[in-house]
Amino acid sequence: MKTAVLGFGTVGAGIYEMLQRAEGLEAGPVYVRKGKADTPWKTDDFDQILADPSVEAVAEAMGGLDPAFSLAERTLASGKHFVTANKMLVAEYGVRLQEIAERSCAAFLFSAACGGGVPLLHNLALARQADEIVSVQGILNGTTNYMLDQMQSAPGGSYESALHKAQSLGYAEADPTADVSGLDALRKIRLAAAVAFGLLPTDGFSEGIENVTAEDIRFYQSRGLILRLIAKTARTEEGVSAYVEPVLFGKDAPEAAVRKNYNLASYEGRASGLISFQGQGAGRYPTASAVIRDLESIRCGARRMFPEGTANGSADSPGSCSRYFVRTEKAFAALFPGAERLAEENDCVRLKTAPFFAKTMHSLVQTIREEDGRVMFAALDPLAEPEDYLC
Ligand SMILES: NC(=O)c1ccc[n+]([C@@H]2O[C@H](COP(=O)([O-])OP(=O)(O)OC[C@H]3O[C@@H](n4cnc5c(N)ncnc54)[C@H](OP(=O)(O)O)[C@@H]3O)[C@@H](O)[C@H]2O)c1
Repeated sequence: MKTAVLGFGTVGAGIYEMLQRAEGLEAGPVYVRKGKADTPWKTDDFDQILADPSVEAVAEAMGGLDPAFSLAERTLASGKHFVTANKMLVAEYGVRLQEIAERSCAAFLFSAACGGGVPLLHNLALARQADEIVSVQGILNGTTNYMLDQMQSAPGGSYESALHKAQSLGYAEADPTADVSGLDALRKIRLAAAVAFGLLPTDGFSEGIENVTAEDIRFYQSRGLILRLIAKTARTEEGVSAYVEPVLFGKDAPEAAVRKNYNLASYEGRASGLISFQGQGAGRYPTASAVIRDLESIRCGARRMFPEGTANGSADSPGSCSRYFVRTEKAFAALFPGAERLAEENDCVRLKTAPFFAKTMHSLVQTIREEDGRVMFAALDPLAEPEDYLC
């Protein structure tokens, strides 16, 4: 199956290289910016790719929405298969692209858009056919995991030095906002929600790691707790939840063992129980391997990852109920009724709250920030203190 590649950066170059060796696949033209087609196998003319009947599939690795969305629309409308590593594109326009794919009988797959080389979506799409998926969660952003790992392995490691190190190794972009705010992980868990539950959330909430200090880490470590950034989605009676927040785990939890920029993605099936995948969530070859896997799946007849009837909707479930460790100013402590005071220093107080739904906690914190208050929080994994899991 001859496949054109859109974009020749980190991932696109990996896809092109792997296409040369993949059995049953063939590298087609590589689409680059106007005036940058400096070899015969590159082109800056997308119409030429569409008009070429020998090109059966297009793999997109440009990123962003424009022109990725219009090229995706045109590819699928022409009946060619479309695979992508672009989480922004699928989170924003996945449902529309699926509708176009259905009309033209083309395939639309996007494994690489969530977890890079970690085969979460691929297996979720398979598992859903035989099992009811209850929840999906994991460490889905390698940059923030690397930074938290740095802060927790180097005594006194600051957020700023961890970010600088992640940038110097190429794990974090010059503008790291999407990673450190949790937005990147939220986009990925929205895709997982769509594949698992047939609802692509248009919203969700996220707390990243920007407010984590070296003192917070020292405090958690003194209690034997490890901090990770976790993305979660679940289907409950209230609907589907989708959110990202820092979570504290006991030292024996699998999440605590996920070091450097690795990902850990898990789903829970009603029949299968918990299934986990750990590996490289980004990087040229891990990500390209997920794109090649999608192309192989198409050769074997796969046409979709979203369940039939997948629609956009609101993630209106309040999420899990957990106790939270909170650091805030004393003036805001009363917002957490029944909280245990763990430590106080100057104007700062550390609390352990009663169990709260994630949505309640995130909106309380938003209230504090709207009043210019300082606050940082992390959920306590129920297994870190089993007797505390009350609701
Ligand atoms: N990097 C990873 O580890 C990873 C992991 C999972 C998913 N992804 C996703 O994969 C996609 C690509 O990421 P990347 O890291 O490979 O990015 P990248 O290194 O910046 O590569 C993007 C490539 O697309 C080209 N491009 C952008 N806009 C274009 C346009 N309008 N016309 C033609 N070419 C255009 C760029 O060309 P110029 O150089 O000329 O700008 C560049 O060659 C993104 O959606 C990203 O989220 C990446």
